Amino acid sequence: MQTKISNEFKNRFGSEGTFYASAGRINLIGEHTDYNGGFVFPGAIDKVIMAEIRPNGTDKVRLFSIDINETAEFGLEEADAPKAQWARYIFGVCRETIKRGGVVKGFDAVFAGNVPLGAGLSSSAALESCFAFALNDLFNGNTIDKFELARIGQSTEHNYCGVNCGIMDQFASVFGKKGNLMRLDCRSMEYEYFPFDPKGYTLVLIDSVVKHELVDSPYNKRRESCERVARRLGIETLRDATMESLNAIKGDITAEDYFRAKFVIEEKERVLAVCDALERGDYDTVGRKMYETHDGLSKDYEVSCEELDFLNDVARQCGVTGSRIMGGGFGGCTINLVKDELYDNFIATARERFNTRYGHEPKIYPVVISDGARRVE
Ligand code: GLA
Repeated sequence: MQTKISNEFKNRFGSEGTFYASAGRINLIGEHTDYNGGFVFPGAIDKVIMAEIRPNGTDKVRLFSIDINETAEFGLEEADAPKAQWARYIFGVCRETIKRGGVVKGFDAVFAGNVPLGAGLSSSAALESCFAFALNDLFNGNTIDKFELARIGQSTEHNYCGVNCGIMDQFASVFGKKGNLMRLDCRSMEYEYFPFDPKGYTLVLIDSVVKHELVDSPYNKRRESCERVARRLGIETLRDATMESLNAIKGDITAEDYFRAKFVIEEKERVLAVCDALERGDYDTVGRKMYETHDGLSKDYEVSCEELDFLNDVARQCGVTGSRIMGGGFGGCTINLVKDELYDNFIATARERFNTRYGHEPKIYPVVISDGARRVE
């Protein structure tokens, strides 16, 4: 990938720049908890967005995306926003850096990636984090701290892409560390690295390759439900809600909001239970909690789809220790914790049954926990 980028950069801009990369992410458990002030448990993976970048001495940004095979050019004022969605991510990162008092000048960039798009692996956070990291290094002497880099990506989603996301994806992409998952408390922003090396088990993603249209922005609607319930409870986020407090107002809220909040309250506890279980090496409990998360995401939070429920059933039938839909939902991958001796049979069965049912094979990505945003030498 680096050679391809380098050749393209030379052809287009006649020189060399600096290489940066940032990663997609997985999340072991803790879904839709980040914007509710709860816990998440992500890690960066070995799939990245990589860019070669060089300041060009003008006030214009010139971009080429190898994967989309398109160029874009824009200035750095708010009115200069490009039309193409992929370019808006980078424009947003420039603007959000400037809004925070950071310096951004014109630059040329060529980038490519191998984070599958729409698979729930946060290719957009990888793109944002790659450029946020690069602008900090190239124009700001690395004076912007890492949390702020993550927030630059998150605000880009909010203000330039219409997704009211939490902080998990950008946090994971910026803070990722090889071999480690991270438990982040999304209220205090305290975090801890957890070395993750489940002896005798493999983590594998099965990508349904389904991308359901986010008509009416269902992600934002889930968030609104949670915020409505929190307001009704007189608390800032559902972090402070309990099943007792929720049940006490059950009659005053819609059934839909009730089940959304119920999922979040239960999920918050599951993250902590999984951390404890991991410390004891108790993978059966980790796996059971993953299945509980799947059921909650499917029935109460309603962000699953037929194909993902199907893959989850196949995992159960194959004796997989834990399996669940991963990420925001509405398509994408399941994440599976599989005993090594069951691995081959599970993958073969999942491929075959899915193909018979849906007419195409799912994609398989073994998880390799890797470093997050960085300069590539
Ligand atoms: C998306 C969002 C994250 C998080 C997850 C669900 O990936 O970007 O902030 O809310 O969904 O856990």
